[in-house]
Amino acid sequence: MLSSLLKEHTTLLHQETEKHPWVKLLLSGRLPMPCYIQYLKFFLPVYSYLEYLMVNKNWLDDFVPEIVRASSLQNDITELIDSDVPFYLDSNNAYLAHLLHQGGENLNFFIAHFYVRYFGDLSGGRLFRDILHKKYGLKLTQLNYYDFSDFLQKYPGGIQILRERLDSIPLSSSDKFSIIQEAQIAFRLTQKMMSNALHQALHH
Ligand code: HEM
Repeated sequence: MLSSLLKEHTTLLHQETEKHPWVKLLLSGRLPMPCYIQYLKFFLPVYSYLEYLMVNKNWLDDFVPEIVRASSLQNDITELIDSDVPFYLDSNNAYLAHLLHQGGENLNFFIAHFYVRYFGDLSGGRLFRDILHKKYGLKLTQLNYYDFSDFLQKYPGGIQILRERLDSIPLSSSDKFSIIQEAQIAFRLTQKMMSNALHQALHH
């Protein structure tokens, strides 16, 4: 099954990501806010692109609108914005560049990124939200990104329904292989964006 293969082949990368300095700083309450905001800014166009594909290609669009994150990310950024934080977009957004230039409109790519982004948000996102609320004093109006209440109301099974949906897509073994490879790249790209967010927000 695709969902269990994905989990199995990304477990080590997941563990590695949990140890990234950006994550460690966030969890300890010491991540400078500009580094958090920069991270959101990097991911806004990533979600916009994935959600453009969802809607325009009808790829997994049964979960639209409850699953989409671009508008909630935009809201959070607007709520948090600090005019001192420069808005880096294309030049340093390796994740977006990869999606646009390597992936294009490729279903296998889309499935891999759908898995890493939305499964991740639905799982670890809750912890991020609690930390940002309790340790950083962010208001819930600044934490829309992690709010999946509409999704969970409609799909009380949560992530399990997404697993079943992925497993229902007819795919060849070579499709599955490319999806797994791409999901591993998605983890690496996430780590890269965390590093870039630390670097850019601290050095400009
Ligand atoms: C401190 C940071 C993080 C924590 C504590 C965390 C925690 C978790 C937990 C508890 C699960 C559920 C595992 C299970 O169902 O057995 C999970 C799943 C997942 N996380 Fe994270 N996570 C973190 C960061 C991330 C990040 C940054 C990403 C994205 C790159 C990510 C992607 C995923 C994915 C794709 C899954 C689904 C695994 C599956 O069931 O197939 N996580 N995470």
